[in-house]
Amino acid sequence: MRYLPMIKYILKRWVKILVLLSALLLGFALAEMLSMTISLSTSISVAQRQYSTRSHPPGVYVQVGRPAHTTGSTLPPCSAIPRLLQASNPKAAAPLPPTLPGISSPRPAPQIDRVGFPENYRNEFKLIYVVDRPDNKQVRVICGNDIAAAVKPGKTFPYGSVFVMEIYNAKQDANGNILKDEKGQYIREALTAIFVHRKEQGFGADYLDDRSGEWEYIGYRPDKTYLPNAAPGKTNACASCHLRQAGKSEDYVFRKE
Ligand code: HEC
Repeated sequence: MRYLPMIKYILKRWVKILVLLSALLLGFALAEMLSMTISLSTSISVAQRQYSTRSHPPGVYVQVGRPAHTTGSTLPPCSAIPRLLQASNPKAAAPLPPTLPGISSPRPAPQIDRVGFPENYRNEFKLIYVVDRPDNKQVRVICGNDIAAAVKPGKTFPYGSVFVMEIYNAKQDANGNILKDEKGQYIREALTAIFVHRKEQGFGADYLDDRSGEWEYIGYRPDKTYLPNAAPGKTNACASCHLRQAGKSEDYVFRKE
């Protein structure tokens, strides 16, 4: 019976031991909570950093032909990659344009469209690059007119520069998994939106604090009607994002080197 003295001791001091044990438990709980807040705040700051840096969102960027800055004329036309299925009902398939968190509409934006649908861009514009975006299951095709396509990295764009970004849904299987072609690239399905921006002298002033240089923005459906969220008066989010994410040093254009 060598445990007897110990049991007696425990019985005598049970109040003290209980207090000690609960203090220990409380300590553990506090430490756990603290480490949770620490990891939470780091993940928030990581997210903020990702949002505020100029880096592109996750995606596979495919350089087309020779880099845009060698000379615009060596680039293929915008229509170079064969187009797949067209949306049977493009209006139904049109996605909302990306919006900035925390910015509610309506925010200052030009009330009229001075950009204009770039007629014949598929033949006349140069294909600059293609992005496969896993986050929103899209393929984005970026083209520029000759003026824009000839600009070297780090240089500002001359007036008359126009960019187009075609947004396609990426083909998916029944479970929503993105399908790829033999080169590992996403397969374009419905063309849902045509985003355009144009630079002209004095453009962009109506965006006020969200102005991104002298660019104005607009979003069309493939049938050349306006996307409801990117129509005249509704394009503040475009300028805001290009202002903050592409930045002045890039003349507010997301360029790939
Ligand atoms: C949340 C940020 C964001 C918003 C909002 C946004 N864009 Fe962009 N835009 C991008 C990014 C990033 C790219 C580069 C392509 C890519 O990685 O998807 C881009 C590329 C473009 C391009 C190709 C030329 C370039 O600047 O690189 C055009 C044209 C364009 N956007 C127009 C628009 C229009 C029009 C709107 C509003 C209807 C808009 N964008 C809203 C982030 C944004």
